[in-house]
Parts: sequence; structure tokens; C-alpha cells
Amino acid sequence: MGNKIKRIGILTAGGDSPGLNAAIRGVGKSAISYGMEIIGFRDGFRGLVENRRLKLDKSTLAGILTVGGTILGTSRDKPHRMVIDGRTKDMTEVIKENYKKWGLDCVVCLGGGGTQKNALRLKQAGLNVITLPKTIDNDVGLTDATFGFATALDIATDTLDRLHSTAHSHHRIIVAEIMGHRAGWLTLGAGIAGGADVILIPEIPYNVEKIAEAIRRRSRSGTNFSIVAVAEGAMSRDDARAFAAAEKKLDRARTLHDKKEAKIELATLDVRHQGNTMRLAKQLEELTHLESRVTILGYVQRGGTPCAADRILATRLGSAATDLIEEEHYGVMVAARGDGTEPVPLEKVAGKRKVVPVDHSWVKTARRVGTCLGD
Ligand code: F6P
Repeated sequence: MGNKIKRIGILTAGGDSPGLNAAIRGVGKSAISYGMEIIGFRDGFRGLVENRRLKLDKSTLAGILTVGGTILGTSRDKPHRMVIDGRTKDMTEVIKENYKKWGLDCVVCLGGGGTQKNALRLKQAGLNVITLPKTIDNDVGLTDATFGFATALDIATDTLDRLHSTAHSHHRIIVAEIMGHRAGWLTLGAGIAGGADVILIPEIPYNVEKIAEAIRRRSRSGTNFSIVAVAEGAMSRDDARAFAAAEKKLDRARTLHDKKEAKIELATLDVRHQGNTMRLAKQLEELTHLESRVTILGYVQRGGTPCAADRILATRLGSAATDLIEEEHYGVMVAARGDGTEPVPLEKVAGKRKVVPVDHSWVKTARRVGTCLGD
């Protein structure tokens, strides 16, 4: 369209996920083939504030398709609330100045839910932005998929497979904690694929007695081991009620004092929740008289080489982003839609977390094969 050589910036923000480098390569290689220039900014939005760059050309883009993490580095820094010299500041104006200084036509931001919101803020500040949806949690709204999820699903499934043989040998319950604070996609998917006996996700608060009964039933029928796949954010019905009440309080708080109180209450509940998986394992041991152990999968789920499906998705979304830049179609997230892609305005995406609907086909499938979901 325009005659000037386009110059695009690219950054990766939020928690890393497999496929980020594949996406950087997808954007970069297709940009170069359009004759565009591309500059990488390091460590998320902070790199754009501090002018820390990585020149992206054919040689820097070579060999990164299979590499985990992100060659650009990442951070959870927000443009409008960034800690600079120990003080929290709004750095939006600095980002605008630097955008101008580097002669950028667009910034491509690779990230999850938080990044969609931050990118929208930059759009509202007058910058051209395009985002790609990445996260192992698969919880970005209005896209069929996010890259990183398929790889993490393989890793978590493989772990459940391995836990089976040791749980079986020792006649134990093994409680495997899988990532996902607000969305249970990863736990549900891995639980189904890895044949977990119990799957607990944030969307379905559990009753520990029901879980214990499912495990005791297995014992009565001669199977004296069980695998419990539990999402980080899964919680008992009582805890879910307490969280909901505190969130409601925060929502309704009108004065600063009330807001502070409600925030303290939520933070206290958060801290208490951190030991939830250990507590659950202990409760199950007491209720079933089976020895129980905990395995926290942790960052293993985010590390290492992306699987083929994530490489394809990331490359597809990355090259589609460059097509949109060529058409000067900005202010959108490149969503995966079937075999194709679709630009979705950031206003529609920001703040839309995609959680597991309780009547989702995966939930029904798990129930149909006799998996206990804790309810
Ligand atoms: O990337 C998303 C996510 O993996 C969540 O599932 C997890 O709770 C969180 O990030 C942990 O991220 P960090 O400790 O890097 O902030």
C-alpha cells in the first residue's frame, strides 16, 4: 500500500511460552519478504521504554524455530504502571516518543490476556499495534487457540503417564498440580489425555468428600492407586464462595478504605490458597487411608522446544500479522479461526478471559469415561 519502507517493532510480554520464537520468526521472515524492516525490543514493554533492542535480520531469525523461550526476553511490565528506579510510573508517553524516534509503523506484541489489555492502552494512546495470542493457559478470548498450549499439554500428559506407573507400583494417590490459575484447559486436556482418575479445575469447585469417595470406590473394585490432576487455581466449594464474596466486596467498594480492605481480604485468600494442593493431598490421605504424594509440574510446562502444532500455529499467526501490517490494518489481535486467521479489534479482546464452560464437550467427555470432577 504505502510507498515508504515499513518499519515494525516486535516484543514478547508476560510469561514465556513455547512457540514465541517460532512466532518472532514468522513475523520477521514474512516482514523481510515484504521488504519491511523489523526491530526487536527486549523484555516486553520495558525494552520499548529503555530503548533496548535486538536487530532482527535473516541471520538472527535463523535457527530459532525450534528453540524454547524467547530470544527477546520477556517481562510482566505494564506501560502505564512500570517500576522505574523504585517508583511506579506511567511510561506511555516515553513509549510514544520512542515509537516516533525509531520511525515505527507498528508494534507487534506477543502475549496473553494482560498483553492484550496493555496493547489496547497503546492503541488508545495513538500507536499502531497488532497482537498475537500466546499462553500455555489457552485462556485468551475470541481466538480458537493460543500458541504454547499444545506443547504444554503434551508435557503435562507425558508427566501424568509417568506418574501412573509409580502410583500403581506404590499403591498411592499422586496429586499432580498443573498450571492455570483461572482457567482449567491445561489440566482438563492433560487429565483426559493422561487418563487421570480425578480432574479438578477452577471452573468447577470441588467437594473433597466426593473425591475421596471416588478414590475409595476404585479401591473397593481392586484398584488401589489414583491420579488426581489439579489445576493451580482449583478450589473447594467453601474457598470458591469466600473468593467470590471478597471479589464482590471489591466490586462494590466505593471508598478507598473499603477498596483497601477488600484487596487485603483477597490477598489473604490468595496466600492461603498457595498451599492448596498439599492440603488436598493430606485430606485425601486421611479420608482414604491411601498414602498420597504431590508432584508440582511448574515451569517444566513452559520450557523447551515447541511441538509441531505450536510451530505451525505461531508461524501462521506471525505471517498473518505481517499481511495485516502490509494492508495497514492495525489495532487488532490476530486470532486463530479454523485453518485461517481473523483480525479481532483489541477493544473486543481485552479483558475477555476464556475459561472452560462447565458444559464444554471436554467436561462431558471426562464425565462419560467415569472421571471424577470433584462435584
Ligand atoms: O503463563 C501463564 C502461567 O503459566 C500461569 O498458568 C501460571 O500461574 C503463571 O503463568 C506463572 O507465571 P510466573 O510465575 O512466571 O509469573
